[in-house]
Amino acid sequence: MPIAEQVFSSALDLTWVRSQFPSLSQTMNGHRAVFFDGPGGTQAPQRVIDAIAGYLAADNANTGGAYQTSRYTDRIIAEARAAMGDFLNCDADEVIFGPNMTTLTYAMSRAIGRELGPGDEIVLTFLDHDANFSPWKALEEKGVTIRAAAFNPADCTLDMNDLASKINSRTKLVAIGYASNAVGTINDVAEVVRLAKQAGALSYIDAVHYAPHGTIDVRALDCDFLVCSTYKFFGPHMGVLYGKREHLKRLIPYKVRPNTNNIPNCWEWGTLNHECIAGIKACVDYWEELGRRAQPSVANRREAIVASHDAIHPHERAMMETMIAGLLAIPGLKLYGISDPRRFESRCATIVVRIEGFTPLELATRLGERGFFTWDGNYYALNVTEQLGVESMGGFLRIGLVHYNTMEEVERMLAALREIVGA
Ligand SMILES: Cc1ncc(COP(=O)(O)O)c(C=O)c1O
Repeated sequence: MPIAEQVFSSALDLTWVRSQFPSLSQTMNGHRAVFFDGPGGTQAPQRVIDAIAGYLAADNANTGGAYQTSRYTDRIIAEARAAMGDFLNCDADEVIFGPNMTTLTYAMSRAIGRELGPGDEIVLTFLDHDANFSPWKALEEKGVTIRAAAFNPADCTLDMNDLASKINSRTKLVAIGYASNAVGTINDVAEVVRLAKQAGALSYIDAVHYAPHGTIDVRALDCDFLVCSTYKFFGPHMGVLYGKREHLKRLIPYKVRPNTNNIPNCWEWGTLNHECIAGIKACVDYWEELGRRAQPSVANRREAIVASHDAIHPHERAMMETMIAGLLAIPGLKLYGISDPRRFESRCATIVVRIEGFTPLELATRLGERGFFTWDGNYYALNVTEQLGVESMGGFLRIGLVHYNTMEEVERMLAALREIVGA
């Protein structure tokens, strides 16, 4: 590890971190692959891969049977639920597993929508991924009024005054993203939850993009629902929903008759992806070990998870500062989102740009040939690209940094980009 890496993050053992992820040693056209595609899905540590393969090799069964592999399956699901409870700071029976965040959100919007009709209102934001927009907008077919809060195009932060003005006594739910998967803005979700509660409305937080970057504490937030996707924070392709117990018990899910009426299982449809659930447990184990290595004195798994975020934060922040400063020095480059380092606590290390004379697809393709994996397009944050007028122009080039990236990768990427654009 270069010395510079240690300077920025004394608590984070980056050599150990990178040794956990086998895919990071891949090469592409002779270049070591650089994974700046985390916002679309992160790489998985070996223990997650082993847990998935191990489950299929030795423990593969359906649930509720009177024999060994089925009992093990029940046990690993319970362990994964408890682990996610610690990850989100809730109880295990408030954790629902599903195929992904989008599916869980459609299921929850249908269930909540059962109680809504003309005269009821839902408040959304134009900064959100479409998975926290369209499932709620679909309730217009029941006569529900949808209002969407604007964001400030200059720095891509939510217009809190506009949001507050849209919440009133008819508002039944406020759906908001914790962090934008396009422009990286971190929203003041605690304040939004407070505004929703004041109006007697439910709050529904999309934490998919935030989860790899910051600690989630649903108790402290006091939100009603929060969703995330484990494949965005080093786990397998699955979604997880937190719901306050009182809501999970009161709301009526659409479900088949033989399924139980008890939470949390009444909110889980059909046979789940057991091997990936085994992978989720291993994913939380990874977070826990990261935290315990950074702060050996932690008392329990939850504290270790908090410690892991404390350790990765300065590292991500330092990489983000270097990346943004380097990008802004490239002639013809426009960065969308917060660019003032004094305000970097309100953004995460997900950076979108356009460069004059190049489409985002051209840039991503040329970077890809050099081993830099980035995204182009709208990443389903459709309202963002539409409002910023780039949807018909290929969206943005998105560079997403997570804790397994290095400062050396950032410097190499900047050099590659300068070379591609002839700067
Ligand atoms: C912020 C955000 N919300 C929701 C989603 C949808 O998640 P899933 O793929 O689990 O449905 C994504 C996926 O990119 C996302 O980035």
